[in-house]
Amino acid sequence: MGFRYIGSKNKLSDLIIQEIKLINPSATRVIDLMAGTGLFSKALRENGFAVTAVDVMTYSYHHLNVHLFVNDPGALFKGVNSLNLKNDDSLSALFEIDNYDRILEHLNNLAPMKGYFYNEFSPEGCPANSDQPRKYFTAENASKIDAIREEIRSLYDNRVVNDIEFSILVHDLIMAVNDIANIAGTYGHYLSKFVKRALDPIVLTRTLFDANENIAGHKVYKGYAEELAKELEGDICYIDPPYIKRQYAANYHVLETIARGDEPEAIGISGLRPWRDQYSNFCSKVKIRDSFSKILLNLQCRDILVSYSDEGLLGIEELVEFFNKFGDVVLKEFDYKRFKSHQCNQREILTEYLIHLRKH
Ligand SMILES: C[S@@+](CC[C@H](N)C(=O)[O-])C[C@H]1O[C@@H](n2cnc3c(N)ncnc32)[C@H](O)[C@@H]1O
Repeated sequence: MGFRYIGSKNKLSDLIIQEIKLINPSATRVIDLMAGTGLFSKALRENGFAVTAVDVMTYSYHHLNVHLFVNDPGALFKGVNSLNLKNDDSLSALFEIDNYDRILEHLNNLAPMKGYFYNEFSPEGCPANSDQPRKYFTAENASKIDAIREEIRSLYDNRVVNDIEFSILVHDLIMAVNDIANIAGTYGHYLSKFVKRALDPIVLTRTLFDANENIAGHKVYKGYAEELAKELEGDICYIDPPYIKRQYAANYHVLETIARGDEPEAIGISGLRPWRDQYSNFCSKVKIRDSFSKILLNLQCRDILVSYSDEGLLGIEELVEFFNKFGDVVLKEFDYKRFKSHQCNQREILTEYLIHLRKH
């Protein structure tokens, strides 16, 4: 399944990068201000840009570390040599195995553990705050996730893996979890019956890296764009804000818990973690303008490119009128086939907008 992320621009990367090059052909430094999955930042890096990426979510921070700072898998996981792992000899006889393979094989073969995920997110669990067990994962997968989470944390605490390697393992676990989660698109709620995909055993697989990619000059920040804007410099800033009411922190709470490695109180039928500390003003019609103003006034960057949709909380005329106060605005629009979550009556083709603001 990979990433099913609301508003992901994965399929639009080429078009947006083409627009960035048109706006400023000599641009070398791009800010990706609400980077989400990190896949657009990755595409920027592949196009030779130095990327500064920001998002308020912890999972995004790990995805970004993986997509921007790694190019040579052979140099990874040197600390694993100290572990004396018993790997499958039949595999190493057939393939060239490196330490990254060894650590994944180790994690994939851990004995299951009945911990937080088992109790809060599987049908066999006893949730702390609900009479009704939840069905995000089968009991087998939830207890594997518990074991893998604990081992990744212990490897990190014992300095067997460094910061970037920790991000790689968290990223790989999130990607594997996305493949077997019993959800229709987001983690806002689980499905009442297990779908076929969710019955497969969870398996962590390698992220592929390109040894030729440039890993110099990138920066990653976790935090609110409004607060970080004054520290950020670039030739152009791409902003991909949430455009509907659905909060990312509520819809991806399970991934956030994996990324933080904690055991928060799981609340209500859906088992949401307390998420108000990652509330986004861009999901509130009354707060968007104030947040945009803070960002636009503080960013040390003349050209800003904003993605928006015709289903956004603000109408496009309103938004363009608002941006006009800060500089010259050019609006482009194009049709886009949406990420389909299983909601009824959803239009399949949306109009996507790219708003270019050149600040006064
Ligand atoms: C439309 S998604 C971005 C998708 C991204 N371009 C991609 O392709 O994956 C919006 C992102 O903005 C983040 N976000 C929302 N409000 C934010 C804020 N005030 N500061 C930083 N990030 C924010 C959300 O966590 C979410 O990841």
